Formats: sequence, structure tokens, C-alpha cells
Amino acid sequence: MHQYYLEDVTKLFGRGQAAVRGINLVVDRGERVALIGPSGAGKTTLFRLLNCTLRPTTGMLRINGDETGNLHGKKLLRVRSNIGTIYQQHNLVPRLKVVHNVLSGRLGRWSTFRSLASLVKPSDIDMAHEALNQVGIPDRIFDRTDELSGGQQQRVAIARVLVQNPEVILADEPVSSVDPSLANAIVQLLIEISRNARKSLIASLHSIDLALAYFPRIVGIKQGKVLFDLSPDNISDDLLAELYGAQSSDPKATEPS
Ligand SMILES: Nc1ncnc2c1ncn2[C@@H]1O[C@H](COP(=O)(O)OP(=O)(O)O)[C@@H](O)[C@H]1O
Ligand SMILES: [Mg+2]
Repeated sequence: MHQYYLEDVTKLFGRGQAAVRGINLVVDRGERVALIGPSGAGKTTLFRLLNCTLRPTTGMLRINGDETGNLHGKKLLRVRSNIGTIYQQHNLVPRLKVVHNVLSGRLGRWSTFRSLASLVKPSDIDMAHEALNQVGIPDRIFDRTDELSGGQQQRVAIARVLVQNPEVILADEPVSSVDPSLANAIVQLLIEISRNARKSLIASLHSIDLALAYFPRIVGIKQGKVLFDLSPDNISDDLLAELYGAQSSDPKATEPS
């Protein structure tokens, strides 16, 4: 059984503009996949389909054999609790202490009451501490989140996913807001987590170099479609030029951002 099975998945917005058009993609447990492609290609929309925030307009998306169109209520919550998402704007609550943001990773698993009550239990503090230790900032546990640097906040977001302990980690431009050396460290950290805990990792990356250096499988997305799905050594400069090249509908869209 595949972790993700997408067949001809299309997502239309508004008056019928296709953000994702006819995507076929299979991802198995423990795989590490980088998504690359120009701005507006449909990467974020694809992530929102993969974490069940959006549903396909047409086509089929199965997660561990369950067709997401048929998932509702508790079943949908259970599927979603097994998917951890890290966003570019890391979606932390800035005024809360680090420990609370990290423990909010459990919100999908527990009732709201238990989640809130849990914030004071020593065992949960231990869990948060352990996760922060793994991302290299255990000493910041009781600091206010907005007192941390951008890179440290991204680590808090990763610690939150560790506490959630999902089968799949989706990371949508996880390092776009940090400097290059830190970006390298954070991507390495995500790879390590995926490897050690046998979690699938699907990450969109702005930096082609990072994608090629760390991921065994690179999926190029252009105009809502999969342009290629290859190992890094099969990706030529010509192919990258085609991926980021001018799009017929928008001749200015050549920026790889
Ligand atoms: N909620 C939305 N409503 C209408 N159009 C959207 C919405 N979200 C994304 N789009 C459009 O879908 C296309 C793909 O966007 P997106 O998935 O954000 O691409 P990427 O993440 O690759 O930059 C873009 O043309 C964008 O404007
Ligand atoms: Mg995006």
C-alpha cells in the first residue's frame, strides 16, 4: 500500500483557474522527495491537498489506501494527525513560550481540554525538552517564542512536528526565511529525522542546490503539472532551464522564487 497515491489530481480555484492539473504521484513510506519549481507552479496547493486541507476538484488522492474524498469526522482527524506540516511562516504563536508551541503538536491527538491541561504536566515538559534537544535548542524551552531568531523559530516548528510524531512530514519552503548556512543545517535536520524515524519527508525548496544535495528524488512542478520526477544525477541544466523558463501565459514569470 502506498503512503500517497495521486491519480490525475486537479484543483481548481475561483472561476476555474487550475492551480494543480492532472498530477500523478506515488510516494511510499520513508521516501524523501523534494519539490522544486517556479513561484505559482502549484507547490503549496499540492501540499494543502497532501495534508487534507484542500480536496481535489477531480481525480483521486489516497493516503495509506484511504481515498481522502471519503474521509470525514474522526477518520479525517486521524489521517490528518499522522501528517505534520512545517510552513515557511512556521505558524507559531509568537507570544507563547516555546514549550507551549512545541506541545501544541499534540492538539490533533488529544481533546482540547487535555491539550490545555497537559501544558503543566512534567511528563509533557520532558517531551518538549527532548524534542527541543533534538533540534539543538533545549535551553530555549521557557523563552517567549518571539524572542528567538527566525532559524530558532523554524527549529521550534520542527520540534512541534517531532512531538506530533506523524508518519509524514510535509515542509513547504521550510528554509526560505533563514540564511543559507542555517538553511543547510535545517534541511539536514529534517533529513536526519526522516531517516532515523522512518518518516516520509516531502519538502518544497527554493534552493535547487539544497534539493539536489540532500534528496534522492526530485519532482519538478511547472504550471500545476509534474514536469519531471528524477534522481538528482539525472537532472540536467537544460531541464532546470525548462522548469524555470518563461511560461507561455506569463512571460515575466522567470524568477525562481
Ligand atoms: N486560495 C486560492 N484562490 C485562488 N487561487 C489560488 C489560491 N491559492 C493558490 N492559487 C493560485 O494557484 C496557483 C498556484 O499557487 P501555489 O500553489 O501557491 O504555487 P507555489 O506554492 O508553487 O508558488 C497560483 O496561480 C495561485 O495564484
Ligand atoms: Mg508556495
